[in-house]
Amino acid sequence: MQNRVSRILLFSLVIFLAGNTIAQPVKPIYLDETRPIEERVKNALSLMTLEEKVALCHAQSKFSSRGVARLGIPEVWMSDGPHGVREEILWDNWGEAKWTNDSCTAFPALTCLAATWNPDMSAIYGKAVGEEARYRNKAVLLGPGVNIYRTPMNGRNFEYMGEDPYLASRMVVPYIQEVQKNGVAACVKHFALNNQENWRGHIDVQVSDRALREIYLPAFKAAVTEAKVWSIMGSYNQFRGEHCCHNDLLLNKILKGEWKFDGTVITDWGGAHDTKQAALNGLDIEMGTGTDGMTRSLTNAYDNYYLALPFLDELKKGTIPVSVVDEKASRVLRLIFRTVMNSKRPYGSLATPEHAQVARKIAEDGIVLLKNDGNLLPFDASKLKNIAVIGENATRKLTVGGGSSNLKARNEVSPLQALCAKYGSKISYSMGYASGPPAYGRVIPSKLNADSLRSAAVKIAGAADVVLFIGGLNKNHRQDCEGGDRQSYNLPFGQDKLISEIQKVNKNVVVVLVSGNAVAMPWVDKVPAIVQAWYLGSEAGNALTSVLSGEVNPSGKLPFTFPKQLSDCGAHSFDKLCFPGDSVHEIYKEDILVGYRWYDTKTIPVQFPFGYGLSYTTFEISKPTTDKPVYSRAETVKMSFTVKNTGNVAGAEVAQIYVTQSKCPVMRPVKELKGFKKVFLKAGETKTVTIPIKVQDMAYWDEKTNNWKVDSGEFILNLGTSAGDVKYMGAVQVK
Ligand code: GLC
Repeated sequence: MQNRVSRILLFSLVIFLAGNTIAQPVKPIYLDETRPIEERVKNALSLMTLEEKVALCHAQSKFSSRGVARLGIPEVWMSDGPHGVREEILWDNWGEAKWTNDSCTAFPALTCLAATWNPDMSAIYGKAVGEEARYRNKAVLLGPGVNIYRTPMNGRNFEYMGEDPYLASRMVVPYIQEVQKNGVAACVKHFALNNQENWRGHIDVQVSDRALREIYLPAFKAAVTEAKVWSIMGSYNQFRGEHCCHNDLLLNKILKGEWKFDGTVITDWGGAHDTKQAALNGLDIEMGTGTDGMTRSLTNAYDNYYLALPFLDELKKGTIPVSVVDEKASRVLRLIFRTVMNSKRPYGSLATPEHAQVARKIAEDGIVLLKNDGNLLPFDASKLKNIAVIGENATRKLTVGGGSSNLKARNEVSPLQALCAKYGSKISYSMGYASGPPAYGRVIPSKLNADSLRSAAVKIAGAADVVLFIGGLNKNHRQDCEGGDRQSYNLPFGQDKLISEIQKVNKNVVVVLVSGNAVAMPWVDKVPAIVQAWYLGSEAGNALTSVLSGEVNPSGKLPFTFPKQLSDCGAHSFDKLCFPGDSVHEIYKEDILVGYRWYDTKTIPVQFPFGYGLSYTTFEISKPTTDKPVYSRAETVKMSFTVKNTGNVAGAEVAQIYVTQSKCPVMRPVKELKGFKKVFLKAGETKTVTIPIKVQDMAYWDEKTNNWKVDSGEFILNLGTSAGDVKYMGAVQVK
């Protein structure tokens, strides 16, 4: 009996095991997440038809491209933008889909993030915006933008990280790393030399190799080689005669060759112009092409895309080798496996209180106090009976407009709302000026009468203890907005006149500028306090009020210079060909002398320097030392010093180190930012700070050897708190 039972047990075990092995289908490698991604890519590619490979390389709708439906490989859904996840857009045109589940958190503009000079802020920013993109099921977030601020006229500077490549390089890395931890690809943009909006679709930029390497590429290189960004967006313009969306030097040689980028190159929307060039010059996914003669067609006829049927045709004829489409398809598959086919990625979240706090924190950390004579700020509520708030930007929604970074924010707290919540009946308000409704690509002037707006504002100004003017630019066309550049360096909508009228009736004027660009300040000597507030997003009013009330001590520093007048700026010191170009070509004649590099080297006084920002407290920096006097090229200089908070409120100072090469065979800027550290200190507290400066970072691009070069000899490390305020200079030798 015993034997019989054991035989039955054994037999049923055999059946069970056999059943399991037979019934269990073998999982194809591309679906097996235990296998390395490269094996999965190769396997998927081996199963795909030529048509399926080509389909991966172009859009199927306004913001999506194909997967491989037959193999269960999902589509790639993309969304703007750098400051938050854009609302859903219609399948085949720029219209809003009018969903009711896609309101988001509007985070501060990237100029504000750069103004924090605090990579920790960049990390919490990337994490939060990545969680929102993940929750909205996007595989690609079309941001951050890191184009260099070459001129205050550029309509899109507000979306970028200022005039210095080192600051932009340090601030872009954590943002990308944290976005991508959500299984969402960041898409650093616009690669490259897209530094204005005029003629952006075709202007052919000429710039030297040195300026390309030392100024315009570093932030992209950091995104690729340090942050390991998974996608990059080609820019609309041309560089040396080739469109940047399919540019052999930029995409094949530098990006994929030198920098070993293994991600996906995506066009800007409509940035592709030629099948052969798109195929051979490094483009991977073509988006946004209007195929009926390049207009904004309703039927985008995706099969007519350059990388659609025309591409398939060339592959079938053999005029383009299949290896070309295999390389593209591999990159797209890698993007898919890293994002939508990564089952371990988190689930994200949308418009949460936590994200609102992140937005507020970054905003508070980025607001810059430019002037505060007589310590008019922070407001002392016990002394103030009547605060007159004047200016349209105290109430205007500024998360709307601006072009593709436009957001449908769940909330947007305006400055006036937050001020009233804080100061109640002490607040009086008058709009003062009107800019007209946001309208993409055109200016619709306001119908309101400017004179009566101004006189009403001057009236309440005269009756108040202090005037809080909240103006600046806005997201209208030809202001801080994609698709056009500014036409004047001055504040628009009669604000200069309004400010000068106000200060005639009240000396206690605080001017708050909400903008993403520098502006002229003809009234700068007449107003005691000036605050540079950025597009601060959903928590704008709360952040601004925290700073004005002293709840938060401002610690932002300018990521770009405020020149006294436009003609002082490098890009505006030559001719039309230098800016904005002659509608076909543009030559960046200021070359490597962009921003403070220009003003320093030409000894041109500026209104407010790069890296400048005040505090409600004061700081003292001690004489620095370096860990040794002589360094080899592979080493890192460590400069140490102490920072003391000599005031009676907590605050933060940003120590900055600019490097000068004492003697150099080529022209170099007077000094260049190569290290910084934001130091938070309680009242009276002292901290020892050490800033590492890689000797390799002190290199210049040698056009003779086409490579980076660090000469041996003396280098001066300038330690200061802005480009205009060097406190100590320490010399080191490179051997
Ligand atoms: C726009 C912008 C780009 C944006 C894209 C999709 O033209 O240049 O930044 O991501 O098209 O909206």
